[in-house]
Amino acid sequence: MSLDQGWLFHLGDVPTSPVKGHGSSYYNGKADGAWGAATADFDDSGWRRLDLPHDWAVEAPFDPNENASQGYRHRGISWYRRYLQLPESDRGRHIELQFDAIATYSTVWINGIVVNRNWSGYNGRNLDITPYLRYGEDVNTIAVRVDADAMEGWWYEGAGIYRHTWLVKRDAVHIATDGLHADPVKSRKGWTLPIEVALESSATTAHRVSVDVSVIDPAGAEVAHGSASATVQPLATAAARLRLELKAPRLWSLRDPSLYRVRAVLREGGRPLDRTEVQTGFRTIRFDPDKGLFVNGEATKIQGVCIHQDHAGVGVAVPESIWEFRLRRLKEMGVNAIRFAHNAPAAEVLAMTDRLGLLVLDENRHFNPSPDYLQQLTWLVRRDRNHPSVMMWSIFNEEPLQGTEVGYEMARRMVSAVKALDTTRPVTAAMHAGLFTPVNAAQALDVVGLNYQSWAYDRYHKEHPTRPMTSTEDTSAYMSRGEFRNDPAAHVMDSYDDQPSSWGTTHREGWRAIAQRPFIAGSFLWSGIDYRGEPTPYEWPSASSFFGAIDLAGFPKAAFYIHQAHWVKDRPVVKILPHWNWPGREGQPVKVMVASNAPRVRLLLNGRVVAEGDVDPVDMASFDVPYAAGVLEAVALRGGVELARDKVETNGPPTQLVLTPDRLALANDGLDAVPVTVSAVDAQGRPVPVANTLVRFDVEGQGDLIGVGNGDPNSHEADKASERSLYNGLAQLIVQSRRGGTGALTLRASAAGLQDARAELTLRAEPALPSVPAAQPVTYLQNWRISPPQATRADPNVVVAGNDMNSWGWGEPPMRQDPEAQPYRLYRSEVNLRADGNDGHTMLTFRKVAGSAEVWVDGVKLGDKSDPQPGPLSVRLPPGATHRQITLLVQSRPGEPSGILDRILLEQSR
Ligand code: GAL
Repeated sequence: MSLDQGWLFHLGDVPTSPVKGHGSSYYNGKADGAWGAATADFDDSGWRRLDLPHDWAVEAPFDPNENASQGYRHRGISWYRRYLQLPESDRGRHIELQFDAIATYSTVWINGIVVNRNWSGYNGRNLDITPYLRYGEDVNTIAVRVDADAMEGWWYEGAGIYRHTWLVKRDAVHIATDGLHADPVKSRKGWTLPIEVALESSATTAHRVSVDVSVIDPAGAEVAHGSASATVQPLATAAARLRLELKAPRLWSLRDPSLYRVRAVLREGGRPLDRTEVQTGFRTIRFDPDKGLFVNGEATKIQGVCIHQDHAGVGVAVPESIWEFRLRRLKEMGVNAIRFAHNAPAAEVLAMTDRLGLLVLDENRHFNPSPDYLQQLTWLVRRDRNHPSVMMWSIFNEEPLQGTEVGYEMARRMVSAVKALDTTRPVTAAMHAGLFTPVNAAQALDVVGLNYQSWAYDRYHKEHPTRPMTSTEDTSAYMSRGEFRNDPAAHVMDSYDDQPSSWGTTHREGWRAIAQRPFIAGSFLWSGIDYRGEPTPYEWPSASSFFGAIDLAGFPKAAFYIHQAHWVKDRPVVKILPHWNWPGREGQPVKVMVASNAPRVRLLLNGRVVAEGDVDPVDMASFDVPYAAGVLEAVALRGGVELARDKVETNGPPTQLVLTPDRLALANDGLDAVPVTVSAVDAQGRPVPVANTLVRFDVEGQGDLIGVGNGDPNSHEADKASERSLYNGLAQLIVQSRRGGTGALTLRASAAGLQDARAELTLRAEPALPSVPAAQPVTYLQNWRISPPQATRADPNVVVAGNDMNSWGWGEPPMRQDPEAQPYRLYRSEVNLRADGNDGHTMLTFRKVAGSAEVWVDGVKLGDKSDPQPGPLSVRLPPGATHRQITLLVQSRPGEPSGILDRILLEQSR
């Protein structure tokens, strides 16, 4: 069940005073000895309520004093809390709390008990919280402290619980999370599907169970099944293993990404206990030292990109549908492989690469085989090893130790940890040096990955002819979308692909070096999409990257079309660069580049042929065309026959805005989000690629504007806003549905002096994910001290020394005493009042007290109960101090039990 809704957020740390003195120190050393915002009853009444995923860094303003690498956004430390109620019927089940990722260091408490510390912003964790939970009326508290001062990268990493959270309720005997391993291997007769199902048990006795596994083909038919049994000991793990044979399954390929589902049902004596399902695909991957990559035996050049995970408007909290939009854009460019640099992507993204037919280089964040870090690597492999799109693992990127014996030994251990979980995929690492030292990390790898060292391709291949090689990163050229001039003072880079970094190449040189060498499996160009941070070669005011073939909002730059011409084979590509608005340059030559996969191209200006020439398949075709306003057309030709054409046109000033949603309907599940392009056209309806107008947005209906962007790396406009300037003619707004929303969403865009634009999106009914509603905080008084019985009336204000942990006892309600000879006892606890409860309307209620009793709060008697029969006792708490000491004096009736027989709570009397 989704746990994304109803969190409370506090921006900034919540400091607590240092622990001093015996009483505090004693408590501090206990299991539930949390302080401040980590405690169950902390006053979070002033906190902001929000739904996850959430990135607080993207809400911050740009600040020159912050780190350029992180996009000049303050990250810092913040807190999240959430209340959770579980029915009595959940008692005895296994309850897991899952965080898909939290940036960056995080600590999680359940009811004041620390249950997890995690040292990376990219790995998920599955926390067994069963032992700490309370059921029924009780409310559980989840508290998360997130330290995003910690950094793992040199790019924008966002801050907060930026991926999904889940609560998984299972039988005590169950299938472990990521516990179904089903990754087909080609056999001589057909295909074998070895299955392993990892089982766990939080039961108190051993259980003999069976697992039924079925394989469902893309059409929904069951095509294989089998079962296996196992015995699971209490608090232990076990595995059920079986092998299924399939003769001729439909293969997963880039052209036809056919997916099978594997379903496992766990039973005990026929009774189903748990079930899980994964998707997998039948395909082979082979890296050949001379000929590169083969997918299903077919030579496949890797046309790959490296990408980070942030998007315009939303930071790293990227809705699934925006991921899909990004990946589709990349596919349109001819991309067939993605390297998620330099960390694990969200799980839902890999389901998408499976579905879309994209290969994945799945990369681990930290090069380190010590236990904490190795666990991050094994988590990644266990989670991702069924995905047909995942073709290879990468254990590091550009590590200074790579060329040393230490680097080799570390790599060897990490590779071995991967192999223990997956023997079907090769392991690589992205090396930018160290390849030729006597002992180096490459010697531990299956495929040698090279970053930027195109000079080393031939030498390494010659010296190590049996070692498969790929570029893991190349290019790193700069480009600003829609700009055709270089203006270093304004931090602007032209689009003619002539701005390589000092360590990289142009897009075309990078690809040429790889395309020419069959032994290089392919390219992973840096980068597919722009990202915040790393504004190389500039710094402030530039705040995001210049490397992308696509800008931060997903709009193509010139490099997109150049690679499209390189990579797309099944349809004609032709694109004219630049636009055709050069007033004042009449008669002067304007450089025109045509990106095309056709062998020849002809240029016509206002219907007259002005140039014609061959297209180099890598360099494309460039011409100098004397400028005249009008229409410039490029005709792609093969053997004199027109294949396709493109045109650019001189336009007048913008007169009207246009809104172009990527889709016209959204699922009303509260998750679906649609990117909407904003542009401007002139009086004749022609797009104006030089417009930079400020546009205001307005969304009406049951949806929200969740972010805006325009792809300008120098922009300091807010991501979370209802306005944005066009950058070279384009901006983007992202609209998300509200859960259960109905009707239409009306979007409006307006700008001074321009005609408004309007667009309508419909909300399509779609079942929302099952989710756990957020509970309201209820303060139950816990942690009671109990005095010894006394013959005479005890003083309710007696002080127990802070270093005396033993003369009074300890208890939790109910606290019932058998008939005792000495009738008086004191019960004492402390409570913090929430600000919204410290107003004189809060009742302190003892639901059931046996014996006559008096309630004292901070030395003042607030009420009593003279009838010794078991019954309630309630007093109103006057406004005052936050921290209160509560004492209950009970006098028992001779021969009768006494004490506190039920819960004690704070309730609003209004
Ligand atoms: C590489 C690095 C990338 C990125 C890139 C920019 O060295 O792996 O993360 O920084 O350079 O050119």
